[in-house]
Amino acid sequence: MSKPFTDTFFLAGHTVSRMGYGAMQLAGPGVFGPPKDRNAAIAVLKEAVASGVNHIDTSDFYGPHITNQIIREALHPYPANLVIVTKLGAIRGNDGSWAPAQEPADLRRGVEDNLRNLGLDVLEVVNLRMMGDIHHPSEGSIAKQMTAMAELQRQGLVRHIGLSNATSRQVAEAQSIARIVCVQNQYNLVQRHDEALVDELASQGIAYVPFFPLGGFSPIQSEALSRIATELKATPMQVALAWLLHRAPNILLIPGTSSVAHLRENLRAKELRLSTAVLAELEGIGQKSRAA
Ligand SMILES: NC(=O)c1ccc[n+]([C@@H]2O[C@H](COP(=O)([O-])OP(=O)(O)OC[C@H]3O[C@@H](n4cnc5c(N)ncnc54)[C@H](OP(=O)(O)O)[C@@H]3O)[C@@H](O)[C@H]2O)c1
Repeated sequence: MSKPFTDTFFLAGHTVSRMGYGAMQLAGPGVFGPPKDRNAAIAVLKEAVASGVNHIDTSDFYGPHITNQIIREALHPYPANLVIVTKLGAIRGNDGSWAPAQEPADLRRGVEDNLRNLGLDVLEVVNLRMMGDIHHPSEGSIAKQMTAMAELQRQGLVRHIGLSNATSRQVAEAQSIARIVCVQNQYNLVQRHDEALVDELASQGIAYVPFFPLGGFSPIQSEALSRIATELKATPMQVALAWLLHRAPNILLIPGTSSVAHLRENLRAKELRLSTAVLAELEGIGQKSRAA
């Protein structure tokens, strides 16, 4: 018996397809500089939207600036139903390094950069990205940053606020300052630190958007995953995405790719229905990697 799931979720007042797209792979190597083929990047974005994707994740620090400029070139004027989610909180060095940029003035500059490069007057959803331990959150008050985000919202530059790389305590603290519509943390079949947070946000109707859904810079490799994929006549990446769709109804996917072929493959993951037996086997992969 397969576990049913819904294709859409309510994000920031919009019904979005749970199968979105993450634009980080559209910049050059190391998310720095231009892509080797700008036309190919534009083709990926056009294909995504033509295929029903209406949730795109980005940031002005991808490139920097370049990914947003490519999104603008490919998709502006934007379809009315497209939700572009961006993020603030870091700055790139000339060598491609990432540094925190969390002061109120940094956050305002980040909003202005996003507005200019995306060609927008208002940003629909902006995630405050804590730098924490790079790809994992670390505790600490975020009241100062959140107060600045709330002020940007009051000024009409930001419509909805989300968080990225946040602990559950930081989510609660942020919610005491402003409404939070989504949380974007690292989570996938083998990175399962956020089990409780996924469920807590589901109970509140808040979107959980895993980054690195395929494993990020080194896509997930697992013998069991490959075997299950073969049995299902699917690819390991499709099964990894389908597992996330089955995991909780508030999980929205933003797999990243620079390739139209991979995009098409990833989008077909929503057609996979996993049986309770397969889900239990996949659960074992996560448990094994947690024990390792
Ligand atoms: N909030 C944050 O801190 C944060 C951090 C990282 C990422 N993000 C967001 O999350 C999105 C997703 O993360 P991600 O792009 O880093 O990682 P990901 O989606 O887990 O994986 C992307 C990697 O998988 C490859 N890939 C994609 N589809 C594939 C397929 N069907 N078969 C084989 N390989 C495939 C891509 O290469 P190809 O280009 O060759 O397909 C790329 O190397 C990003 O695009 C970004 O928007 C947010």
